Amino acid sequence: MHQIDIDTVEMTLDVMKYAINRISNTQPELGAPKKEEELKKLVGETITPDGIGSEKAFKLFRDILVKATVPIDHPRHLAFVPAAPTRAAILFDLVTSASSIHGAYWMEGAGGIFCENEAIKWLISLADMPETAFGVFTSGGSAANLSAMVTARENWRKKNGQEQSKGIVITSSGAHSSIKAMAKVIDVELLLVSTEDLMTASLLADKLHELTPEQRERVFAVVATGGTTNAGIIDDLDGVADLCRKEDLWFHVDAAYGGGALVADSVRDKFNGIEKADSVTIDPHKWLFSPYDCGAILYRDPELAREAHEQEGSYLEIIKDPGAHGFNPADYQIQLTRRLRGMPLWFSLATHGTAKYKWAVERGIWLAQLAGQMIEGREYLELVRDPSLSIVLFRRLGWTEEDYKSWTYKNHREGIALVTPTKWPKEGGYETVVRFCFINPDTNEEDIRIVLDTMG
Ligand SMILES: Cc1ncc(COP(=O)(O)O)c(C=O)c1O
Repeated sequence: MHQIDIDTVEMTLDVMKYAINRISNTQPELGAPKKEEELKKLVGETITPDGIGSEKAFKLFRDILVKATVPIDHPRHLAFVPAAPTRAAILFDLVTSASSIHGAYWMEGAGGIFCENEAIKWLISLADMPETAFGVFTSGGSAANLSAMVTARENWRKKNGQEQSKGIVITSSGAHSSIKAMAKVIDVELLLVSTEDLMTASLLADKLHELTPEQRERVFAVVATGGTTNAGIIDDLDGVADLCRKEDLWFHVDAAYGGGALVADSVRDKFNGIEKADSVTIDPHKWLFSPYDCGAILYRDPELAREAHEQEGSYLEIIKDPGAHGFNPADYQIQLTRRLRGMPLWFSLATHGTAKYKWAVERGIWLAQLAGQMIEGREYLELVRDPSLSIVLFRRLGWTEEDYKSWTYKNHREGIALVTPTKWPKEGGYETVVRFCFINPDTNEEDIRIVLDTMG
């Protein structure tokens, strides 16, 4: 199977033809899931002792399996956090795979790690962090948040001799679910400032005052959000940063979704204070147009991350030798062997320049404002709150939770759009509402109109 023969040539042509067609298709079919048994019936046995051949396997994928997936870059995919990787980034993702580079250590991956590091420097400059700050690409925001918390806890334990006690992290109820999940992974307690709106310094101060002295001793980090997933809200980063400094707490900003907007002049001032963070998560696979998977974690003092993550082993000693000297991404996050997942972002940035990124992100913000106006113009719809970053929350007057759900499924089934409901606080409880999240610059006014018409 490592031979190059006529089958390899034919397979290469099939794959390249598919890739070219797919990346030039701006209206891919909005696929929908099928039950596993149904898919099995359609494709049959694919893993056999003799193989079914690339032609057949590829045909099954192209004609059946890919149709049971939703293209994340469909212009009317406005659910969750969609994505819209640039063509340059997708093509370079193929190059990244074809180049077979180990991305853990400079000794093996220098040229590729150089590309990643150029892109990391740009992210650092967007956050206006000090020149000594640095970071690495991760598999996504969850992994980036995990590495930030691991670094913060290690630093706290070393500083305070807190080897045995269970640490506490404070965040707000608007924070992403991955904060809770990653806190569980590293067995720390999570305390919530109760707000879906922005977490201010005074709300955080109130939370700290509520704690017993024993609890206060165990608090080691605060996680603020730079663009909540549900509503695009940015916490009071400046105020929270100052309080964290005063209280000697690690200040992490989860800007996995919103971080892309650091490039947009129209909203940049909302992120003021991010430059004071000890660590920042930004996901290029969300709003910086990279293919999955590509997150990033930036550290004010990368040395602390190295102390928390560096692996030891006799087989790894040569990597630390001065002769192999260079930046080793494996030392700053949880993975050892890693794909050079920052290379597609580097290539796309180098190809297009940063000004185009600014334009494309501003377009997402503009689409949210436009959608807000279109919603206000329809008597059966109502904005829940002003659009924030690229997220719009609105209600269909008279609808129940069931109505929202069946509307979502119907639109998806009919290939019109994927737009999903969420919940927003109302009168001491929660109300079901609709949420748009704009990422794709190819989405236009007509796309928004088509979706709003389905609610009439
Ligand atoms: C604010 C925020 N943080 C973290 C995450 C998790 O990122 P990932 O899915 O890349 O692990 C998300 C995902 O939507 C997010 O919006």
